[in-house]
Parts: sequence; C-alpha cells; structure tokens
Amino acid sequence: MAPADQTRKAHTSKAQTSKAISNDTALRLLAWYDSHHRDLPWRVTPREHARGVRPDPYRIWLSEVMLQQTTVEAVKSYFLAFIEKWPDVEALAAAPTEGVMKAWAGLGYYSRARNLKACADLVAARGGRFPDTETGLRELPGIGAYTSAAITAIAFDRHAAVVDGNVERVISRLFSITTPLSEAKAEIRVHVERMVPATRPGDFAQAMMDLGATICTPRRPRCMLCPLREDCSAVVSGDPENFPVRPPKAEKPLRRGAAFVSMGDDGAILLRRRPEKGLLGGMTEVPTTAWTARVDGATTEAAAPFPGDWRRAGTVAHVFTHFTLELEVFRAHIEGDAPAGHFWSPAHEISGEALPTVMKKAIEAAIPGATKKPSPLSAKRPHD
Ligand code: ADE
Repeated sequence: MAPADQTRKAHTSKAQTSKAISNDTALRLLAWYDSHHRDLPWRVTPREHARGVRPDPYRIWLSEVMLQQTTVEAVKSYFLAFIEKWPDVEALAAAPTEGVMKAWAGLGYYSRARNLKACADLVAARGGRFPDTETGLRELPGIGAYTSAAITAIAFDRHAAVVDGNVERVISRLFSITTPLSEAKAEIRVHVERMVPATRPGDFAQAMMDLGATICTPRRPRCMLCPLREDCSAVVSGDPENFPVRPPKAEKPLRRGAAFVSMGDDGAILLRRRPEKGLLGGMTEVPTTAWTARVDGATTEAAAPFPGDWRRAGTVAHVFTHFTLELEVFRAHIEGDAPAGHFWSPAHEISGEALPTVMKKAIEAAIPGATKKPSPLSAKRPHD
C-alpha cells in the first residue's frame, strides 16, 4: 500500500472508531437516563416525553437562567415560586421589575434578574414565542453560548452541544484529555458535537449533566455504577480523579520589605492606616518600606521611617493571592507624639485593630502576644 494510502487508512479507521464509540456511548447514556434521571421541577421525564409531553420553552429558559451560577438544589424553590406567580412569559413581562427583583432576592447575581425581565419583555412583545435556534436565542438579553445551546436542546429537542462544568468533566475523563481544561474547551466541544445522538438530543444533554452531578463527580467518582465505564479511558488508565487536568499553578513572585514595630510607653504600638483603595484597603499596619518585587535589595533599619534603636526581631512571610511577601521585622522603643500620619494604639486596643494577618505576624515577631485578646482573668480591674 502506498504511504499516502496507509496514512489515509489510519486516519479513517481512527475517526470511525471514535465515532462508533460515540454513537454507542450516547445510547448507553440514554438508557441509563431513562431509569436514573433526576426529577427536577422544570423537567419533562423520559416517560412523559415518550407519551408526547413536550417541555415548555418558558420553563426551560427560566430554569437555565436561574441555574447559570446557582446549584440545582438552590434553584428548585425559586423556580416553583416564579412559576406560581408568573406561569408564562406574558405574565412575567406584565410584572413590575421591582416584584421580579424581590422574588429573585437570595439567588444572587442580580444582573441575571434584570436580563430575565428584559428578555421576557422582548419575547412577549414579539408574540410570546422563544426562538428555537441557538443563533436566535443568543440575541436575547442574558442568553449566552451555554444557555442558548441548553434551551435549543432541552426545550426544542434540537441538535446542540451543551457543555457545562459537569459535561467538561465527563468528556475529559471519557477521552483522557491531558490538555489543561482552560485550553481543552474546543476539543471537548468537538467530542460533544459528535456524541449528540440524532434522536433525543435534549435528553442526551440532561443525561450528561445528571451523570456528571451524580456519578462522574469531581471527587470519588462512582465508576462502578457508571453506564459509560467500558468506554471511559480514564477508568482504564487508573485514576479518573486526575481529569480534568488543571494547569500547573504559577509560582508566585516574592516581594520583600521591612516592617517597623515601635513600642511606646505602656505597650502602645505605633500604627497607620493603609489607603482606602488597593490591597488591604483601609486596614491598619505598622510602618513598612515599600514591598518591592526585587529580591536582592537588602532591607535595613536605615529605611526606618523615624530614628530609633532599631533591632532585628525576625522575618515573617505571608502568601497573598498574587505574591508572597517576606518582611524583615525591626523593633525599637519610641517615645513622644506619633509622627504625622501615625497613631499610638494602646496595648489593650491592639487586638481590636483592623490588622491584616501579615501585620499581626510582624507585631507578634517583635512583641509576642501583643495582638492577642487580653484574657479576662489577666485584665486589671479599675480599683486594682
Ligand atoms: N444545570 C444546568 N442546567 C441543568 C439542567 N437542565 N438539568 C440539570 N442540571 C442543570
């Protein structure tokens, strides 16, 4: 066989194998869904579906918007309350925005509620029918790629690749996708596109979600109960929990500085307030040098904001979201009025100051116990 033919044959057979597995896989999943689906208030069950019951696009749209950033359990009662108050899109459009916002209270992400109302107004004004294509749905307020695919598949039983976090996990494991999840989205979508069966695409989408939520869970997946066990390459390779692959955590840069703990009379400590904006905005701190990105610049007492008999008291470290901070701590006994921009915090008030953890660490390095609440037993009574 000519090399080009061999290559073509290899490609063809790989594609065919993957397609054969995909079709089979979808049918196995649907059979599992028939008996293991979750009963959800917006859902038409497979049995009802077989009897000819069709989902109400209004209910599917409402549930999918509510589910965008909220769990199924949290959404159930809100969904039922909305349906009772506003059973169709015209009723929701006729409702005052204020009332809709009130009914939404507690679900969070209130822009969803505003978009919900705007979408209802638009759909009602256009005759009350939701578009039945992803493109048409995406033109409506609050409907993005995921929600338009979900409504197309579930409400209209049309082919659409519905990919949420659950589905990403199932597919990553099924195909042992080693590309980190953030870069694997397109690849995952291709697999889902291929798997969507010609019949029951809506049940297929819901079955994938249910499988991810109940069997193919992030931790301790219940592979022994999984209808796709035999197709799953992560099961074969050993540890499904390793998928989806997360990108390696970036090393945090190290910043360094010096912190100056000034002890006044009676154990008072000299503090200042951080600017309102920015990291630890508005919190309290001991004076420090700048926290520079340089790791080679030695910090010394020469950088102290005011003169004193500065002595080294140790080094403390703290890990922030974007960097690690190492502070060399100095302490000195200082007397007199607080320099401009600083204030003396009396010993008994220090535990009540808005000190971030890194500052508590610095103070503790200089004066052990200084940031702890005084024990009521050790507190002096006025007449003592
Ligand atoms: N999460 C988002 N949409 C869902 C749905 N239709 N069923 C179950 N979980 C979901």
